Amino acid sequence: MGMPEIAFLECSQCRLHLDAATPQTVCTACAGSLYVRYDLSAAAGLERRGEVGARQRDGSWGGMWRYEQVLPAVEPVTLGEGWTPMLRGRRNGNVWLKEEGANPTGTFKARGLAMAVTMARHYGIRKLAAPSAGNAGGALAAYAAAAGIEAHIFMPADVPMANRVECEAYGAHLTLVDGLISDCGRIVAERKAAEGWFDISTLKEPFRVEGKKTMGYELVEQLGWEYPEAVFYPTGGGVGLIGMWKAFEEMEELGWVTGRRPRMVAIQAAGCAPVARAFEQGETVSRMWENARTFAAGLRVPKPYGDALILEIVRESGGTVAAVTDDEIFGSLKDWGRQEGILLSPEGAAATAAYDRLVGTGFLKAEDRVVLFNTGSGNKYTDVLADRFGLEGVG
Ligand SMILES: Cc1ncc(COP(=O)(O)O)c(C=O)c1O
Ligand SMILES: [Zn+2]
Repeated sequence: MGMPEIAFLECSQCRLHLDAATPQTVCTACAGSLYVRYDLSAAAGLERRGEVGARQRDGSWGGMWRYEQVLPAVEPVTLGEGWTPMLRGRRNGNVWLKEEGANPTGTFKARGLAMAVTMARHYGIRKLAAPSAGNAGGALAAYAAAAGIEAHIFMPADVPMANRVECEAYGAHLTLVDGLISDCGRIVAERKAAEGWFDISTLKEPFRVEGKKTMGYELVEQLGWEYPEAVFYPTGGGVGLIGMWKAFEEMEELGWVTGRRPRMVAIQAAGCAPVARAFEQGETVSRMWENARTFAAGLRVPKPYGDALILEIVRESGGTVAAVTDDEIFGSLKDWGRQEGILLSPEGAAATAAYDRLVGTGFLKAEDRVVLFNTGSGNKYTDVLADRFGLEGVG
């Protein structure tokens, strides 16, 4: 079997081709995000599809690396990410929860950063830097430690405590910023040349999308190689949504899946909903959201770099963008805790809240098969949730 060589990197906006022999960031002509392209013909057909996951004897080909046929031919830096449980709802068997809290570092960010750090090590990069809403920073810290690479991480000062603890434990260089992820991104951009950092910000290098695309392969495989009617994805920077759409396109090219692609539902928090606003107003890009506020820390992205791609995909899929309030999120989090035995992250609870709403409006029927992404474990938010539950500290 084996992994495909990268043929080229392709700009998502102007389609320019760049060479992947050396590390690339964004399109050199228009600053668009880059997609990794391969010649996938060796993996085409149902027989090859049947070989997925066959080579798991060595841990490096387990987890998301079971899709080695569609991932770059390099030695993985892995901590066991991917191939997360797909849990069937106890109340409605048509609702499937993709439990990304089972990943190393407790969130789906592990997939993108495992792939991006794998490529960074392959290219011989020594210092990585990234702004983060929290969980990407924790994942970067872990994978950089595993790869022996320096990590410089910039987070808002009020991120969940777990994210700060991760940076300490993994030995990353953490700077807390009085501001949002956009302010953190500006600092990385200003300092990277002088410091010799490679910037692995969301959608400013091609491999985080490539890691996150495995969620698209997994959900289809776990549903018996069939598409669901809709996929609910809590959207900050949108990497997972963009990655899953790329996966669907590849799987169709490979002949691994047929039928109608899922309607992609991007979920935002009402206190930071730039993409929802652009969607409603029929815009092709978003505008910076002022005074972003929500306890779903991962959704506090006031102006995603990939906004045009997110909007294009949602529209093409016949999906929508929903903005849910913190009260709706917390209500759904308690509901899933008490009725399903699952402690969702606030971001995941935004997806479950949006599902309830969209069934209520008739956008979807309760009989439609859907996949809801719990992008992280609620256990990463004990400080935030203790506060919401009104729990007092002891001693
Ligand atoms: C738990 C969680 N869910 C969702 C998101 C949003 O992810 P994306 O930036 O890929 O849209 C984040 C981002 O930090 C997150 O930490
Ligand atoms: Zn371009």
